[in-house]
Amino acid sequence: MNKGALALLIHGGTQNWSPERWKSRFDDVCKDRRVWLLPDPTCDAAEVCYAAVWKPRSGELAAFPNLRVMFNLGAGVDALMADSTLPKVPLVRVAVGDLTARMTEYVVLHVLMHHRQEPYLRASQREKRWAPRFQWPASAISVGIMGMGTLGSDAADVLRRLGFRVSGWSRSPKQLEGISCFHGNAQLDTFLQRTDILVCLLPLTPETQQILNRGLLAKLNPNSPMGAPALINAGRGGLQNEADILECLDDGTLGAASLDVFAQEPLPPDSPFWTNPKVVLTPHNAADTDPDEISKYVARQIERFEAGGALENVVDPGRGY
Ligand code: NAP
Ligand code: GLV
Repeated sequence: MNKGALALLIHGGTQNWSPERWKSRFDDVCKDRRVWLLPDPTCDAAEVCYAAVWKPRSGELAAFPNLRVMFNLGAGVDALMADSTLPKVPLVRVAVGDLTARMTEYVVLHVLMHHRQEPYLRASQREKRWAPRFQWPASAISVGIMGMGTLGSDAADVLRRLGFRVSGWSRSPKQLEGISCFHGNAQLDTFLQRTDILVCLLPLTPETQQILNRGLLAKLNPNSPMGAPALINAGRGGLQNEADILECLDDGTLGAASLDVFAQEPLPPDSPFWTNPKVVLTPHNAADTDPDEISKYVARQIERFEAGGALENVVDPGRGY
């Protein structure tokens, strides 16, 4: 197999994620391979064997007749799955220690924030109010993680070691040390009923669309020691029914929410989430993909593939993740 060229199609990243930064990293790790950052009028589509992409436009990837592998420059592939013209070649997603560690930091930060009543304590400080509330131990709180894949299982393990009671919900059965594992729709209610802090790290697929709705949130532990359960969503905005979440915050079904992802991003200035006092909001940066790490990950996979080895973390188009 000859060294096929790599095309980069990168739209809508953050500042430190500029397409030029990706190009320079890929040039470093693919020294003997042609790397095109598109759009580039000199790019010969027939030479492109690999594509590394973030939110490519529908139909863009179909323009490469000799494509062998597509690499998504993030963990979630929902944007690609929505493209009906997606070439029928393997799609590899990101699953690397760097991204996983960043997500675990985010999850632990936000679980602790709600558990340790940080919003209340910061408000007290602003008002110069010395008014400690009872602080329950981690062992009194049940954290339930929806999505026990690469990211969910790592966060679960760290939370368990901090002393939380941790449960996980996934599609297939799992056995993980110290974690109560639930799977499938039949076990979802039991998982929810014991959960005080719900963390969502599911992929967005036709099955998980708007899964975080009133019906589901109302099943969380109503007798939580925290007063009311909290929601943390760092999966995708499409997983949440935003009107339902706002209503649940309003009527006390939920006590608080940390949201990193939204149906519309950037979040419009008139969104009620910006100013809701029960919401801790971050701009989809729970776990950034680092161009240094990910370019090496992609280059290693291409080398192995060209040497006849197997690709890792290949998406199953039937499941959509
Ligand atoms: P993953 O390894 O593919 O894990 C997905 C998990 O979800 C698996 O445990 C899977 O169950 C479970 N799942 C999928 N569909 C399900 C269903 N219908 N019912 C029950 N469980 C279901 O994915 P990951 O690497 O952990 O990433 C998860 C998501 O995080 C990504 O898809 C992306 O949307 C999001 N993400 C967000 C950020 C951010 O900055 N906010 C960064 C990175 C990723 P099985 O184990 O049984 O297959
Ligand atoms: C980021 O959202 C990712 O999917 O990696």
